[in-house]
Amino acid sequence: MPLDLDQKARDILKQNDRGGYTVPTARLYPYQWNWDSAFVALGFATFDRERAWQELELLLEGQWRDGMVPHIIFRRDDPDYFPGPSVWQAHGGDLPSGGISQPPVLASVMLDLVASGNDADRTRAAALFDKVLDWHRWWHSARTPDGCPVVCTVHPWETGRDNCPDWDLGFDRMEVPADLEPYTRMDTVHADVSERPSKLQYDKYVTIIKFGRDVGWDQTRLTNEGPFLMADPGIHFILLRADRDLRHLADILDRPGAADELDGFIAKGVSGTDYLWNPDLKAFCAREVRSGAFSQGFSSASALPFYADAGSPDQRDSTLGHLDRIGAKVDFLVPSWDPDAPGFEPQRYWCGPVWPQMNTIISKGLAEQGHTDLAKRVRGDLAAAIEKSGFFECFNTVTGAGCIGTDFSWTAALWLAWASPNRKT
Ligand code: DGY
Repeated sequence: MPLDLDQKARDILKQNDRGGYTVPTARLYPYQWNWDSAFVALGFATFDRERAWQELELLLEGQWRDGMVPHIIFRRDDPDYFPGPSVWQAHGGDLPSGGISQPPVLASVMLDLVASGNDADRTRAAALFDKVLDWHRWWHSARTPDGCPVVCTVHPWETGRDNCPDWDLGFDRMEVPADLEPYTRMDTVHADVSERPSKLQYDKYVTIIKFGRDVGWDQTRLTNEGPFLMADPGIHFILLRADRDLRHLADILDRPGAADELDGFIAKGVSGTDYLWNPDLKAFCAREVRSGAFSQGFSSASALPFYADAGSPDQRDSTLGHLDRIGAKVDFLVPSWDPDAPGFEPQRYWCGPVWPQMNTIISKGLAEQGHTDLAKRVRGDLAAAIEKSGFFECFNTVTGAGCIGTDFSWTAALWLAWASPNRKT
Protein backbone atom coordinates (compact mmCIF):
# COMPACT_ATOMS: atom_id res chain seq x y z
CA MET A 1 0.00 0.00 0.00
CA PRO A 2 2.60 2.67 0.95
CA LEU A 3 4.56 1.69 -2.16
CA ASP A 4 1.52 2.52 -4.31
CA LEU A 5 1.18 5.83 -2.52
CA ASP A 6 4.85 6.60 -3.21
CA GLN A 7 4.24 6.04 -6.91
CA LYS A 8 1.06 8.12 -6.83
CA ALA A 9 2.95 10.93 -5.08
CA ARG A 10 5.64 10.97 -7.78
CA ASP A 11 2.92 11.02 -10.44
CA ILE A 12 1.25 14.03 -8.78
CA LEU A 13 4.49 15.99 -8.80
CA LYS A 14 5.05 15.20 -12.47
CA GLN A 15 1.45 16.04 -13.34
CA ASN A 16 1.64 19.43 -11.54
CA ASP A 17 4.96 20.28 -13.22
CA ARG A 18 4.53 23.23 -15.57
CA GLY A 19 8.03 23.05 -17.05
CA GLY A 20 10.52 23.59 -14.23
CA TYR A 21 8.12 24.84 -11.60
CA THR A 22 5.15 23.15 -9.95
CA VAL A 23 1.63 24.42 -9.33
CA PRO A 24 0.19 23.49 -5.90
CA THR A 25 -2.83 21.92 -7.62
CA ALA A 26 -4.44 22.32 -11.03
CA ARG A 27 -7.12 25.04 -11.42
CA LEU A 28 -7.50 26.25 -7.80
CA TYR A 29 -3.87 27.45 -7.60
CA PRO A 30 -2.55 27.65 -11.19
CA TYR A 31 0.75 29.52 -10.51
CA GLN A 32 4.02 29.03 -8.65
CA TRP A 33 3.61 29.62 -4.90
CA ASN A 34 6.61 30.42 -2.73
CA TRP A 35 6.61 28.03 0.23
CA ASP A 36 4.78 25.37 -1.76
CA SER A 37 7.71 25.27 -4.20
CA ALA A 38 10.27 25.00 -1.43
CA PHE A 39 8.52 21.96 0.07
CA VAL A 40 7.96 20.51 -3.39
CA ALA A 41 11.73 20.56 -3.96
CA LEU A 42 12.14 18.16 -1.02
CA GLY A 43 9.80 15.72 -2.77
CA PHE A 44 11.52 15.97 -6.14
CA ALA A 45 14.87 15.47 -4.40
CA THR A 46 13.82 11.90 -3.52
CA PHE A 47 13.87 10.91 -7.20
CA ASP A 48 15.17 13.83 -9.33
CA ARG A 49 17.67 16.21 -7.70
CA GLU A 50 18.12 18.24 -10.85
CA ARG A 51 14.42 19.00 -10.88
CA ALA A 52 14.50 19.86 -7.15
CA TRP A 53 17.10 22.60 -7.67
CA GLN A 54 15.31 23.86 -10.75
CA GLU A 55 12.18 24.45 -8.66
CA LEU A 56 14.15 26.70 -6.30
CA GLU A 57 16.00 28.48 -9.12
CA LEU A 58 12.73 29.32 -10.87
CA LEU A 59 11.25 30.56 -7.60
CA LEU A 60 14.14 32.98 -7.21
CA GLU A 61 13.64 34.24 -10.78
CA GLY A 62 10.64 36.04 -9.29
CA GLN A 63 12.71 37.86 -6.65
CA TRP A 64 12.18 41.62 -6.39
CA ARG A 65 14.96 44.16 -6.64
CA ASP A 66 14.37 45.02 -2.95
CA GLY A 67 15.07 41.37 -2.00
CA MET A 68 11.51 40.15 -1.45
CA VAL A 69 10.61 36.75 -2.84
CA PRO A 70 6.89 37.09 -3.64
CA HIS A 71 4.21 34.66 -2.53
CA ILE A 72 3.03 33.94 -6.10
CA ILE A 73 4.81 34.23 -9.44
CA PHE A 74 2.53 34.77 -12.41
CA ARG A 75 4.28 33.44 -15.47
CA ARG A 76 1.08 33.73 -17.51
CA ASP A 77 -2.42 35.01 -16.84
CA ASP A 78 -4.91 32.32 -15.83
CA PRO A 79 -8.64 33.10 -15.64
CA ASP A 80 -9.07 30.30 -13.06
CA TYR A 81 -7.50 32.38 -10.27
CA PHE A 82 -8.46 35.56 -8.45
CA PRO A 83 -6.64 37.85 -7.67
CA GLY A 84 -4.35 37.55 -10.70
CA PRO A 85 -1.60 39.83 -12.02
CA SER A 86 -3.95 42.58 -13.25
CA VAL A 87 -5.27 42.99 -9.70
CA TRP A 88 -1.90 42.97 -7.94
CA GLN A 89 -0.13 45.22 -10.47
CA ALA A 90 3.08 44.38 -8.65
CA HIS A 91 6.25 44.61 -10.72
CA GLY A 92 9.14 44.73 -8.27
CA GLY A 93 11.11 42.09 -10.19
CA ASP A 94 11.45 40.69 -13.71
CA LEU A 95 8.22 38.67 -13.55
CA PRO A 96 4.68 39.72 -12.59
CA SER A 97 3.93 38.57 -9.05
CA GLY A 98 2.01 39.09 -5.85
CA GLY A 99 3.10 42.10 -3.77
CA ILE A 100 3.69 40.25 -0.49
CA SER A 101 5.92 37.36 0.58
CA GLN A 102 5.39 33.96 2.28
CA PRO A 103 7.05 32.02 5.14
CA PRO A 104 10.77 31.76 4.31
CA VAL A 105 11.43 28.03 4.35
CA LEU A 106 13.76 28.20 1.33
CA ALA A 107 17.09 28.36 3.20
CA SER A 108 16.10 25.37 5.34
CA VAL A 109 15.21 23.35 2.25
CA MET A 110 18.54 24.27 0.63
CA LEU A 111 20.41 23.12 3.72
CA ASP A 112 18.49 19.83 3.61
CA LEU A 113 19.51 19.29 -0.02
CA VAL A 114 23.14 20.16 0.71
CA ALA A 115 23.29 18.00 3.83
CA SER A 116 21.95 14.97 1.95
CA GLY A 117 23.90 15.70 -1.24
CA ASN A 118 27.35 16.13 -2.72
CA ASP A 119 29.58 18.74 -4.40
CA ALA A 120 27.02 19.33 -7.14
CA ASP A 121 24.43 20.33 -4.51
CA ARG A 122 26.93 22.67 -2.86
CA THR A 123 27.57 24.37 -6.20
CA ARG A 124 23.84 24.86 -6.81
CA ALA A 125 23.38 26.24 -3.28
CA ALA A 126 26.35 28.61 -3.64
CA ALA A 127 24.76 30.13 -6.75
CA LEU A 128 21.56 30.93 -4.82
CA PHE A 129 23.07 31.89 -1.47
CA ASP A 130 23.27 35.70 -1.99
CA LYS A 131 19.71 35.90 -3.26
CA VAL A 132 18.39 34.08 -0.21
CA LEU A 133 20.48 36.25 2.10
CA ASP A 134 18.96 39.32 0.40
CA TRP A 135 15.50 37.94 1.12
CA HIS A 136 16.35 37.47 4.80
CA ARG A 137 17.68 41.06 4.90
CA TRP A 138 14.35 42.19 3.45
CA TRP A 139 12.42 40.52 6.27
CA HIS A 140 14.68 42.08 8.87
CA SER A 141 14.35 45.57 7.36
CA ALA A 142 11.23 46.13 5.23
CA ARG A 143 9.04 43.84 7.39
CA THR A 144 10.33 45.00 10.75
CA PRO A 145 8.15 47.99 11.69
CA ASP A 146 9.75 51.02 13.33
CA GLY A 147 10.29 50.25 17.02
CA CYS A 148 9.13 46.62 16.86
CA PRO A 149 11.49 43.83 18.05
CA VAL A 150 10.29 41.18 15.56
CA VAL A 151 9.48 40.76 11.88
CA CYS A 152 5.80 41.25 11.14
CA THR A 153 3.29 40.65 8.40
CA VAL A 154 1.01 42.95 6.44
CA HIS A 155 -1.39 40.38 4.99
CA PRO A 156 -2.78 37.04 6.23
CA TRP A 157 -1.78 35.48 2.89
CA GLU A 158 1.83 36.35 3.70
CA THR A 159 1.68 34.06 6.73
CA GLY A 160 0.38 31.21 4.57
CA ARG A 161 -2.30 30.68 7.28
CA ASP A 162 -4.88 32.70 5.37
CA ASN A 163 -8.12 32.67 7.38
CA CYS A 164 -6.83 31.52 10.75
CA PRO A 165 -8.82 33.24 13.54
CA ASP A 166 -5.41 34.67 14.60
CA TRP A 167 -5.95 37.43 12.03
CA ASP A 168 -9.35 38.58 13.32
CA LEU A 169 -7.58 41.07 15.61
CA GLY A 170 -5.97 42.79 12.64
CA PHE A 171 -9.09 42.55 10.49
CA ASP A 172 -11.33 44.00 13.23
CA ARG A 173 -9.39 47.27 12.98
CA MET A 174 -9.87 47.47 9.20
CA GLU A 175 -12.63 49.14 7.22
CA VAL A 176 -13.52 47.96 3.73
CA PRO A 177 -13.46 51.14 1.60
CA ALA A 178 -16.74 52.04 -0.09
CA ASP A 179 -14.95 52.28 -3.44
CA LEU A 180 -13.41 48.78 -3.28
CA GLU A 181 -13.61 47.46 -6.84
CA PRO A 182 -16.17 44.69 -7.43
CA TYR A 183 -14.56 41.28 -7.95
CA THR A 184 -15.51 37.66 -8.60
CA ARG A 185 -13.94 34.96 -6.45
CA MET A 186 -12.73 31.88 -8.29
CA ASP A 187 -11.71 29.76 -5.26
CA THR A 188 -15.35 29.00 -4.44
CA VAL A 189 -15.88 27.80 -8.01
CA HIS A 190 -13.18 25.14 -7.53
CA ALA A 191 -13.68 24.32 -3.82
CA ASP A 192 -16.54 23.94 -1.35
CA VAL A 193 -17.68 27.24 0.19
CA SER A 194 -17.74 25.66 3.69
CA GLU A 195 -14.00 24.99 3.43
CA ARG A 196 -12.85 28.43 2.24
CA PRO A 197 -12.55 31.95 3.74
CA SER A 198 -15.66 34.15 4.04
CA LYS A 199 -16.75 37.03 1.77
CA LEU A 200 -15.85 39.65 4.43
CA GLN A 201 -12.37 38.12 4.77
CA TYR A 202 -11.91 38.30 1.00
CA ASP A 203 -13.01 41.96 1.01
CA LYS A 204 -10.26 42.64 3.55
CA TYR A 205 -7.63 40.65 1.64
CA VAL A 206 -8.43 42.79 -1.41
CA THR A 207 -8.45 46.01 0.65
CA ILE A 208 -4.82 45.38 1.63
CA ILE A 209 -3.91 44.75 -2.02
CA LYS A 210 -5.53 48.08 -2.91
CA PHE A 211 -3.38 49.85 -0.30
CA GLY A 212 -0.24 48.20 -1.67
CA ARG A 213 -1.11 49.27 -5.20
CA ASP A 214 -1.85 52.81 -4.02
CA VAL A 215 1.64 53.15 -2.48
CA GLY A 216 3.30 51.60 -5.55
CA TRP A 217 4.22 48.52 -3.48
CA ASP A 218 6.67 50.49 -1.35
CA GLN A 219 7.19 47.69 1.19
CA THR A 220 8.36 49.92 4.03
CA ARG A 221 5.23 52.06 3.71
CA LEU A 222 3.06 48.96 3.44
CA THR A 223 4.53 47.75 6.76
CA ASN A 224 4.47 51.02 8.68
CA GLU A 225 1.35 52.66 7.26
CA GLY A 226 -0.71 49.76 5.88
CA PRO A 227 -4.14 48.70 7.13
CA PHE A 228 -2.98 45.40 8.70
CA LEU A 229 0.05 44.77 10.89
CA MET A 230 0.50 41.66 13.00
CA ALA A 231 3.36 39.58 14.34
CA ASP A 232 3.07 35.88 13.52
CA PRO A 233 4.72 33.05 15.46
CA GLY A 234 4.76 31.13 12.16
CA ILE A 235 6.87 33.63 10.26
CA HIS A 236 8.92 34.43 13.36
CA PHE A 237 9.93 30.83 14.12
CA ILE A 238 10.32 29.81 10.47
CA LEU A 239 12.59 32.79 9.79
CA LEU A 240 14.64 32.16 12.93
CA ARG A 241 15.12 28.55 11.84
CA ALA A 242 15.94 29.70 8.30
CA ASP A 243 18.45 32.26 9.62
CA ARG A 244 20.14 29.46 11.58
CA ASP A 245 20.11 27.17 8.53
CA LEU A 246 21.48 29.89 6.24
CA ARG A 247 24.17 30.52 8.89
CA HIS A 248 25.05 26.84 8.69
CA LEU A 249 25.20 27.07 4.88
CA ALA A 250 27.47 30.12 5.19
CA ASP A 251 29.93 27.89 7.09
CA ILE A 252 29.69 25.09 4.55
CA LEU A 253 30.13 27.51 1.65
CA ASP A 254 32.86 29.49 3.43
CA ARG A 255 31.10 32.86 3.61
CA PRO A 256 32.38 34.38 6.91
CA GLY A 257 30.99 37.89 6.25
CA ALA A 258 27.49 36.51 5.74
CA ALA A 259 27.88 34.35 8.85
CA ASP A 260 28.47 37.45 11.00
CA GLU A 261 25.45 39.20 9.56
CA LEU A 262 23.29 36.13 10.12
CA ASP A 263 24.49 35.92 13.74
CA GLY A 264 22.94 39.37 14.19
CA PHE A 265 19.62 38.22 12.70
CA ILE A 266 19.62 35.13 14.92
CA ALA A 267 20.29 37.21 18.05
CA LYS A 268 17.38 39.49 17.12
CA GLY A 269 15.10 36.46 16.60
CA VAL A 270 16.06 34.86 19.91
CA SER A 271 15.60 38.04 21.93
CA GLY A 272 12.36 38.96 20.12
CA THR A 273 10.71 35.62 20.88
CA ASP A 274 9.22 36.85 24.19
CA TYR A 275 7.26 39.49 22.27
CA LEU A 276 5.04 36.64 21.01
CA TRP A 277 4.49 35.04 24.42
CA ASN A 278 0.88 35.43 25.51
CA PRO A 279 1.03 35.34 29.33
CA ASP A 280 -2.72 34.62 29.68
CA LEU A 281 -2.79 31.58 27.42
CA LYS A 282 0.82 30.66 28.19
CA ALA A 283 1.55 30.09 24.53
CA PHE A 284 3.26 31.78 21.59
CA CYS A 285 0.44 33.63 19.83
CA ALA A 286 -0.10 36.08 17.01
CA ARG A 287 -0.12 39.71 18.14
CA GLU A 288 -1.67 42.85 16.73
CA VAL A 289 1.21 45.29 16.73
CA ARG A 290 -0.49 48.68 17.12
CA SER A 291 -2.69 47.64 20.09
CA GLY A 292 -0.33 44.99 21.50
CA ALA A 293 -3.33 42.61 21.81
CA PHE A 294 -2.71 38.85 21.62
CA SER A 295 -4.72 36.28 19.76
CA GLN A 296 -6.29 33.92 22.31
CA GLY A 297 -5.90 30.47 20.77
CA PHE A 298 -3.16 27.91 20.21
CA SER A 299 -2.57 27.59 16.44
CA SER A 300 -0.26 25.16 14.66
CA ALA A 301 2.27 28.03 14.47
CA SER A 302 2.26 28.13 18.29
CA ALA A 303 3.87 24.67 18.17
CA LEU A 304 7.02 25.86 16.36
CA PRO A 305 9.44 26.98 19.13
CA PHE A 306 11.13 23.57 18.97
CA TYR A 307 11.74 23.92 15.23
CA ALA A 308 13.37 27.33 15.85
CA ASP A 309 15.21 26.11 18.97
CA ALA A 310 13.69 29.08 20.81
CA GLY A 311 11.77 29.81 24.00
CA SER A 312 12.61 29.11 27.64
CA PRO A 313 12.22 25.64 29.24
CA ASP A 314 8.96 26.84 30.90
CA GLN A 315 7.61 28.17 27.61
CA ARG A 316 8.41 24.88 25.90
CA ASP A 317 6.78 22.83 28.69
CA SER A 318 3.67 24.91 28.45
CA THR A 319 3.65 24.44 24.65
CA LEU A 320 3.86 20.66 25.16
CA GLY A 321 0.94 20.91 27.63
CA HIS A 322 -1.21 22.58 24.96
CA LEU A 323 -0.32 19.86 22.47
CA ASP A 324 -1.35 17.20 25.03
CA ARG A 325 -4.65 18.98 25.69
CA ILE A 326 -5.39 19.26 21.96
CA GLY A 327 -4.12 15.77 21.18
CA ALA A 328 -6.75 14.35 23.52
CA LYS A 329 -9.51 16.14 21.58
CA VAL A 330 -8.69 15.39 17.95
CA ASP A 331 -7.68 12.19 16.22
CA PHE A 332 -5.35 13.99 13.84
CA LEU A 333 -2.73 16.40 15.18
CA VAL A 334 -1.86 19.26 14.67
CA PRO A 335 -5.02 21.31 14.05
CA SER A 336 -4.40 24.71 12.53
CA TRP A 337 -6.61 26.29 15.20
CA ASP A 338 -7.39 25.55 18.84
CA PRO A 339 -10.43 23.25 19.27
CA ASP A 340 -11.18 25.03 22.58
CA ALA A 341 -11.20 28.54 21.06
CA PRO A 342 -14.02 30.40 19.28
CA GLY A 343 -13.85 30.05 15.52
CA PHE A 344 -12.73 26.42 15.44
CA GLU A 345 -14.10 24.54 12.40
CA PRO A 346 -12.43 21.19 11.72
CA GLN A 347 -12.93 21.36 7.94
CA ARG A 348 -12.44 25.08 7.16
CA TYR A 349 -8.99 25.83 5.72
CA TRP A 350 -6.92 27.42 8.55
CA CYS A 351 -9.68 27.28 11.20
CA GLY A 352 -8.97 23.65 12.14
CA PRO A 353 -7.60 21.33 9.44
CA VAL A 354 -4.23 19.58 9.66
CA TRP A 355 -1.68 20.86 7.14
CA PRO A 356 1.12 18.66 5.77
CA GLN A 357 3.85 21.32 5.80
CA MET A 358 3.05 22.37 9.36
CA ASN A 359 3.11 18.78 10.65
CA THR A 360 6.45 18.28 8.90
CA ILE A 361 8.24 21.19 10.53
CA ILE A 362 6.53 20.81 13.92
CA SER A 363 7.49 17.14 14.08
CA LYS A 364 11.00 17.81 12.88
CA GLY A 365 11.51 20.36 15.66
CA LEU A 366 10.02 18.08 18.32
CA ALA A 367 12.26 15.20 17.23
CA GLU A 368 15.38 17.39 17.27
CA GLN A 369 14.58 18.52 20.81
CA GLY A 370 14.07 14.96 22.08
CA HIS A 371 10.26 14.80 22.20
CA THR A 372 10.30 11.62 20.20
CA ASP A 373 6.86 10.19 20.99
CA LEU A 374 5.01 13.38 20.19
CA ALA A 375 7.11 13.85 17.03
CA LYS A 376 6.08 10.33 15.95
CA ARG A 377 2.42 11.01 16.60
CA VAL A 378 2.49 14.23 14.55
CA ARG A 379 4.13 12.41 11.65
CA GLY A 380 1.94 9.31 12.01
CA ASP A 381 -1.28 11.34 12.11
CA LEU A 382 -0.43 13.01 8.81
CA ALA A 383 0.52 9.68 7.24
CA ALA A 384 -2.77 8.16 8.49
CA ALA A 385 -4.80 11.03 7.02
CA ILE A 386 -3.08 10.63 3.65
CA GLU A 387 -3.54 6.85 3.72
CA LYS A 388 -7.21 7.30 4.58
CA SER A 389 -8.13 10.13 2.21
CA GLY A 390 -5.40 10.68 -0.38
CA PHE A 391 -3.19 13.63 -1.31
CA PHE A 392 -5.45 16.52 -0.28
CA GLU A 393 -4.39 20.07 0.50
CA CYS A 394 -5.29 19.59 4.18
CA PHE A 395 -7.39 17.28 6.36
CA ASN A 396 -10.32 17.54 8.76
CA THR A 397 -8.61 17.31 12.16
CA VAL A 398 -11.46 15.28 13.70
CA THR A 399 -12.24 12.80 10.90
CA GLY A 400 -9.13 12.83 8.68
CA ALA A 401 -11.32 13.53 5.62
CA GLY A 402 -9.50 15.41 2.85
CA CYS A 403 -10.28 19.12 2.37
CA ILE A 404 -10.13 21.52 -0.59
CA GLY A 405 -7.47 20.86 -3.26
CA THR A 406 -6.89 17.31 -4.53
CA ASP A 407 -3.66 15.78 -5.95
CA PHE A 408 -1.81 18.44 -3.99
CA SER A 409 1.88 19.00 -4.63
CA TRP A 410 3.22 19.62 -1.13
CA THR A 411 1.22 16.73 0.30
CA ALA A 412 2.75 14.42 -2.31
CA ALA A 413 6.23 15.92 -1.81
CA LEU A 414 6.18 15.69 1.97
CA TRP A 415 4.83 12.16 1.82
CA LEU A 416 7.87 11.20 -0.28
CA ALA A 417 10.39 13.23 1.72
CA TRP A 418 9.09 12.56 5.20
CA ALA A 419 5.69 11.02 6.04
CA SER A 420 5.80 7.77 4.02
CA PRO A 421 6.57 4.73 6.18
CA ASN A 422 9.19 3.91 3.53
CA ARG A 423 11.22 6.88 4.81
CA LYS A 424 13.58 6.06 7.67
CA THR A 425 13.47 9.55 9.27
C1 DGY B 1 -5.27 31.80 -1.97
O1 DGY B 1 -5.59 32.36 -3.01
O2 DGY B 1 -6.07 31.14 -1.28
C2 DGY B 1 -3.88 31.82 -1.52
O3 DGY B 1 -3.70 31.19 -0.32
C3 DGY B 1 -3.29 33.21 -1.50
O4 DGY B 1 -1.92 33.06 -1.47
